[in-house]
Amino acid sequence: MVQEEAILKLPNGTEHRIKARKDTAAAKPIFGGRSILPALQGVCLYRGYSVPDLVDQAQALEDGVAYLLLVGEKPSVAQLAEFRKEIQKHMLVHEKVKAMFSNFTINAHPMAIMVAVIGALSCIFSELDPLDEEHRWLACKRLIAKVPVLACWAYKTSIGQPMMYPRADLSFAENFLYMMFATPMEEYQVNPVAAKAINAFMILHMDHEQNASTSTVRIAGSSQANPYACIAAGVASLWGPAHGGANEAVIKMLEEIGVPENVPNFVADVKAKKEGVRLMGFGHRVYKNYDPRAKVMKGLVAQVLQELGIEDPLLKVAQELEKVALADDYFVQRKLYPNVDYYSGIMLRALGIPTSMFTVMFAMSRTVGWVSQWNEMVSEGQMRIGRPRQLYVGPKERKWSESKARRGGSPVDRGGVRKRASLKRFEEGKELV
Ligand code: CMC
Repeated sequence: MVQEEAILKLPNGTEHRIKARKDTAAAKPIFGGRSILPALQGVCLYRGYSVPDLVDQAQALEDGVAYLLLVGEKPSVAQLAEFRKEIQKHMLVHEKVKAMFSNFTINAHPMAIMVAVIGALSCIFSELDPLDEEHRWLACKRLIAKVPVLACWAYKTSIGQPMMYPRADLSFAENFLYMMFATPMEEYQVNPVAAKAINAFMILHMDHEQNASTSTVRIAGSSQANPYACIAAGVASLWGPAHGGANEAVIKMLEEIGVPENVPNFVADVKAKKEGVRLMGFGHRVYKNYDPRAKVMKGLVAQVLQELGIEDPLLKVAQELEKVALADDYFVQRKLYPNVDYYSGIMLRALGIPTSMFTVMFAMSRTVGWVSQWNEMVSEGQMRIGRPRQLYVGPKERKWSESKARRGGSPVDRGGVRKRASLKRFEEGKELV
């Protein structure tokens, strides 16, 4: 690490010099994180491999994309077989955690359930030592294996259906669909088009450098907190519409627009910055050109809808909105393009996934990135506690003085008055004490 100084200039002209840690490895953001970059050039890579290529050619868990993110290299045949076996084994969820689900109300948002149950895994695995390499590896595998199960159980709970256990004979994507849609009453056939789409969604969302949720996981982990609790913190951070909640918000926005003819009015409201109106699924802190993941997602939507023989009227609204926005100076000047969340919801709708599960699926996929980054942070000795510096601009030191007048008499006086009044009313038979 090279020590450097960053100079922060406030609008009032004051300057603050802050020690900054600059990584010496190539093209890495402050926190490290090897899985992705260089996003600035509009390229999206996991450990050097093109994400669109991975989506095209690989299966998320079965072909070792998750392993690649975790370890840094493609697994050998033996390593992959071992990894798959381990993940399968860890898909079983402790019955005590399963019992928790019965306490959530029907209609509870599945993201609310996810924050609670992932955090609750730390009750079961509280002995874990984050500084022990074997413990860390175990925690990573457990989380990758269990979060998809918890995700499906969150959905089943929210609709009041029995929770389905994963099956050893199914792939990750097949298992996900099975646990979401099967019931104990009849046999469930997994649609291969749907399984392919789920696999693609998973790979596209696995990691993306220092976004809000990943940085949250790193900051929580920097205190050596239990990793299950750290991942729960990541889920909470992901939930909002500016981050992972955008996929759900896009569908709400498209439904509100309703038909392509309403697009110009909506765009006018966005440009006027009308309160609460934003073009959801557009814009990105890093990509100032078309998000490469969005390009893949757009292609997938067309393919999935065609293969399933579905026509979604919202797709026409989304296409028109994209066309109008990309031709408009407001979006051109600010370099606002569709991001990964813009089209993903339309694909998930076609698979019958309810809107409330979109962000949960993002969390399930991003868990791979979160645990990889957490593990990297600890193993590379980047464990200095996260402590953003606060620049205080409030009043200087001053004295607190309390007066009886401000309080309006002592609490004892007021209590006594109330009690005497209440007793009087009781004696008059007007109140039960
Ligand atoms: N619609 C309208 N105006 C926008 C949008 C948008 N989606 N995004 C940015 N702007 C405007 C913003 O108002 C600002 O305008 P001005 O210069 O007049 O003040 C300008 O563009 C620069 O934006 P910013 O606020 O500095 O951008 P940011 O880097 O802070 O925010 C963002 C990035 C993704 C939060 C934002 O673009 C946004 O809210 N997008 C919609 C929500 C969304 O799709 N989120 C998913 C992000 S990608 C997946 C993920 O990581 O979760």
